[in-house]
Amino acid sequence: MLDRKVDFLVVGSGIAGLSFALKAAELGKVLIVTKANEDESNTKYAQGGVAVVTDETDSFEKHIQDTLIAGDGLCNPQVVENVVKEGPARIAELVSYGTSFDKEASGEYDLAKEGGHSMHRILHYKDITGYEIERALLERIHAHPNIEILTHYFAIDIITQHHLGEHVDKRSENITCYGIYALNTQTKHVEKLLAKQTLMATGGAGHIYSSTTNPTIATGDGIAMVYRAKGKVRNMEFIQFHPTALYNPREYPAFLISEAVRGFGGVLRRVNGESFMEEYDERASLAPRDIVARAIDAEMKKSGLDYVYLDITHRSKSDILSHFPNIYEKCLSVGLDMTKDYIPVSPAAHYLCGGILVDEYGATSIKNLYACGECSSTGLHGANRLASNSLLEAAVYAHRIFVHAAERIQSIDFQDGIRDWDDSNTQLSNEDILVTHNLRETQKLMSDYVGIVRSDFRLERAMRRLGLLHEETEAFYKNTKLSVKLCELRNVIQVAYLVVKSATLRKESRGLHYTTDYPQHANQLEDTVL
Ligand code: FAD
Ligand code: SIN
Repeated sequence: MLDRKVDFLVVGSGIAGLSFALKAAELGKVLIVTKANEDESNTKYAQGGVAVVTDETDSFEKHIQDTLIAGDGLCNPQVVENVVKEGPARIAELVSYGTSFDKEASGEYDLAKEGGHSMHRILHYKDITGYEIERALLERIHAHPNIEILTHYFAIDIITQHHLGEHVDKRSENITCYGIYALNTQTKHVEKLLAKQTLMATGGAGHIYSSTTNPTIATGDGIAMVYRAKGKVRNMEFIQFHPTALYNPREYPAFLISEAVRGFGGVLRRVNGESFMEEYDERASLAPRDIVARAIDAEMKKSGLDYVYLDITHRSKSDILSHFPNIYEKCLSVGLDMTKDYIPVSPAAHYLCGGILVDEYGATSIKNLYACGECSSTGLHGANRLASNSLLEAAVYAHRIFVHAAERIQSIDFQDGIRDWDDSNTQLSNEDILVTHNLRETQKLMSDYVGIVRSDFRLERAMRRLGLLHEETEAFYKNTKLSVKLCELRNVIQVAYLVVKSATLRKESRGLHYTTDYPQHANQLEDTVL
């Protein structure tokens, strides 16, 4: 089989991958590989919108302060400043690509508010902002002669010196990426995709938990690939649980009830109708997510029920319908009229604040490999992401990576001598159900032991169980013909391990990581790098 060779290889077709691809295509040939349909991504489901300073009553300083406060001491202040200040230009670019954001009759943007924001500053398109961004980006991508998209291609592993037969030490400064091995799910063959520069834009990892708002593509593949290739990952313990996923035990993944509903006046209530958030934080229902999710968790533990209520019934039907048409329809489909009924909600895994360690230009610890979007750890989010900062981060870093990559692409050559994927000693599996069982077991143990409130005892339990699942799955992987499900299981277990290991190393509570053994901040601020 012929190797494919391109200047830029992009893994993933969410906002991060597509934004970079459009820019890189001005310099050379771009190949995007994506494991499902081209639009399937966390991006497509983003509801609330993009946090960015556009209004004259707002300021960069206020957005910076809100981000730093939410991040609970662990943000990189320089990164926060860069992202906030470069945000408006990148969002103007999205608009120039054809993205619409809602405006008021005056022609000004209709700005929404979410938890942790001191100002109304969220640009949105109804309650389907991500769908609109993804649509506009894909339209531009299709029209570009230098970009090819391969759908249903699953990136398995990063190609490095290891695949030239050399020993790669994790302490080495010179690990280099030459492209990736990817499974063509139609032919079932593993292909070599060689590139001068590769971008990992594989998104989050919500599916390491049994309750998540993320679509099923979110299995942490890019992070697992980088870690296997001996690259660095950072702050994996910071898993953001969104406080308000629609409570519906029959639905997986969980449907999100946007924080913008609380920004629009929505109030969290106990099942007896009492409002409770003011007992936890003066910002009440609009406190940052870590605080609201922990409060709901505490309320659910007290009541013994699996949900609390979100009440927006005091707003007019026409206001609710014009701002939240998608959420309204979804609620109706399960028998709830949100203009009259309280909405049952519970927290669900939503966003991974840590990820592949990158510098201020998105470069990873592996040469010629960049990472962008939710799979990366730039330093913007610290210990807790401020709502609606992630679409912004992806757009800003896609540009920064482009600037860095453009300066280097001319001096990079393709690597010869990479060995073909060898699956000669593997057999077709007749026990795929074991993969499903191990995935469910991993997700359940993560939800049971590594959720919103943690302890050393729970983390030790999780690690022991993960060890066994890892052993079984690696043995299966070595002997079995590849399938997407098997590769995803391997990645889920790998990422779950990174979360538990990082959580174990953090001997304090900070932001999204709360442990009953160390309920306070430690004196020293430290990132967890694995
Ligand atoms: P994604 O958009 O997830 O794209 C990842 C891509 O990688 C996908 O195309 C996937 O198929 C592909 N991929 C993954 N693994 C492989 C592999 N092995 N091989 C090939 N392809 C692969 N953020 C905000 O800022 N504002 C919001 O309002 C907001 N609302 C949200 C609502 C929901 C329900 C969810 C789930 C998230 C929300 N977020 C929001 C978070 C935000 O949507 C994501 O962080 C962001 O879209 C991530 O973009 P990305 O390009 O990094 O990844
Ligand atoms: C939401 O709409 O509540 C999600 C916003 C986000 O995750 O940033």
